[in-house]
Amino acid sequence: MLTWEELENACLACTRCALYETRTNVVFGVGNKDAEVLFVGEGPGEQEDLQGEPFVGRAGKLLDDMLKIIELDRKTNIYIANIVKCRPPKNRDPLNTEQDACIDHLRAQFRLIKPKIIVCLGRIAAYRLIGEDFKITRDHGKWYDKDGVKFMALYHPAALLRDPGRRPETFVDLKELERVIRETCPNTYAAP
Ligand code: URA
Repeated sequence: MLTWEELENACLACTRCALYETRTNVVFGVGNKDAEVLFVGEGPGEQEDLQGEPFVGRAGKLLDDMLKIIELDRKTNIYIANIVKCRPPKNRDPLNTEQDACIDHLRAQFRLIKPKIIVCLGRIAAYRLIGEDFKITRDHGKWYDKDGVKFMALYHPAALLRDPGRRPETFVDLKELERVIRETCPNTYAAP
C-alpha cells in the first residue's frame, strides 16, 4: 500500500488522462487524514485549479457554511477529495474515461483514511460511488451501506447556488448526517 507521500507524489506526476495537459495544479485533497468522514466532490473548478485545494470558489464557500451548520470544519474533522483531481476544461462534467483514469487515486485515499462515512457531493460522485441508478433528486439524504461503510449524497453546493429552493431539503439531510456521525464516529466531534 502506498504511503500518503507516495500517493501524493504519484498524483502530482500523473499523466493518466488528458486533463494533465491543461491543469495548473493537481487538487489532491484537504483535511484530516485520520477523518472518519470523507466528502467527495466531482472535480476542481477554476479557483481550485489555481489554488490547488478543493472547494475554494463560490460553491466551496457554501460548502463551508453547510459544514458549519453541523459543526464540521474542512481542516480539522473531515477530509475532502474529488472524483477527478485535475480541472475539466470550462468546468464540464468529467468524462467517464477521465473518471476511470483517476478513480484509483481516490481508492488509494479511501484505503489510507478508512472512513466510516462517505458523503457524495452531487450526482456525479453519487453515480460513481453509490450506483448507476442513483438519482440525486430522489435519493439525496438516503443511506447506503457498502462493505460496512455508510454512503449518503447531498446536493452539490453549486446546484444549491443555482437553485436555492433545494436548500431546505439539504438542511434536513445535513441534520440527518450529523445524527449518524454522532452515533457512529466517536472521534469526529471530540475536542481536539
Ligand atoms: N466542485 C467540485 O465538485 N469540487 C471542487 O473541488 C470544486 C467544485
